[in-house]
Amino acid sequence: MLVLGVETSCDETGVALVENGRLVAECLASQTDIHAVFGGVVPEIASREHQRMLPVLFQNLLRKAGLTAQDIGAVAVARGPGLLGSLLIGMSFAKGLCLATGAPLIGVDHLHAHLLAPGLENELRFPALGLLVSGGHTHIYRLDSPTEFRLLGRTLDDAAGEAFDKVAKLLNLPYPGGRYLDDLSQGHEPDTKMFPKAYVHNDNLDFSFSGLKTAVAEYLAKRPHLAYAAMPDAQALRNGGALALAPHPQELALVAASFNWAVAETLRIKVERALAREPGLAALIVAGGVAANSHVRAAMFRIAQANGLVALLPHPALCTDNAAMIAHAGELALCAGYRHGLDVESVPRGRAVPRDWTRTAAGCAGMRLDRTDAEN
Ligand code: KG4
Ligand code: ZN
Repeated sequence: MLVLGVETSCDETGVALVENGRLVAECLASQTDIHAVFGGVVPEIASREHQRMLPVLFQNLLRKAGLTAQDIGAVAVARGPGLLGSLLIGMSFAKGLCLATGAPLIGVDHLHAHLLAPGLENELRFPALGLLVSGGHTHIYRLDSPTEFRLLGRTLDDAAGEAFDKVAKLLNLPYPGGRYLDDLSQGHEPDTKMFPKAYVHNDNLDFSFSGLKTAVAEYLAKRPHLAYAAMPDAQALRNGGALALAPHPQELALVAASFNWAVAETLRIKVERALAREPGLAALIVAGGVAANSHVRAAMFRIAQANGLVALLPHPALCTDNAAMIAHAGELALCAGYRHGLDVESVPRGRAVPRDWTRTAAGCAGMRLDRTDAEN
């Protein structure tokens, strides 16, 4: 079954085609550089950009794959949580396409899609512990199947990615600054006493990064010389310029290494606690933008190995927002027999995505078009 994925929940416009768990083609347009100077995503601009780019990306995708809209067996769309205006653009596009082609529709929880993304590269194993660390969320789940998620813990305030972005902003780095702090820290030992591990002295699985963020803010307020005098160009930073452009590279590298360590250590403590409470797991899944962080990845691979679990961490490009993960999650849900009607709603940030789909016995076999079968 050829499934189209549509992603417009934040500042990446994405379309992708997935078939039998493998990526066929994808087109992604990032708005990162448009929002960079504002220090965060401007919702109104994000919606307009999605509306401008989505049909063009879809045309490019079909051209790239050598297919027509009629070849699409089902449409999977990120229905939330996210910026409502942005979600509505993707949802309207998906519904329009379903109306025009007769393809079935499945609304996908963007957070669940992040955690299923490693399935595009490796076989997923269940039950699994899933750590989702993105710009908007820090959640720990138990996953019993691709459609059964139980939330075990969540952030009470800032998400891990938000803490990265806010610290980067204090240094005058463009948004989103997580990856630059990761770059700055490379090869430097952390000072493990410099910043507190956030919200670990309790017995729960929730997170709170606001204390750590405040500690870093107070540290930097006393050392204004550490911030970049003018906001560096994002492209120059992506080309490895973070350290070269820093006014005090050695001192800043130490701060970055210590901050990265404090975040990774906090995640490590909570994940180990969750593993101790959920025996019999087969895999540890870590996904979302912060799963691209080198320190977080290293810590999670170590934990998985020590606990005899398969580590399922997507390739860094698959960690941040993309449509391949939406198509993949949609395909898994469709194969389990789930569908949505054309009245499915988008879900803004802060609201849980309801399980309001309908289940049929058909699964993959009931799809409008199974290309593999049709070709054979
Ligand atoms: O999953 P994602 O693309 O978007 C959301 O759904 O939120 O995550 C974006 C977040 C941003 O906060 C960004 O700074 C962070 O992921 N991020 C990183 C790294 N790469 C992206 N944070 C730390 N280290 C990285 N290498
Ligand atoms: Zn995301």
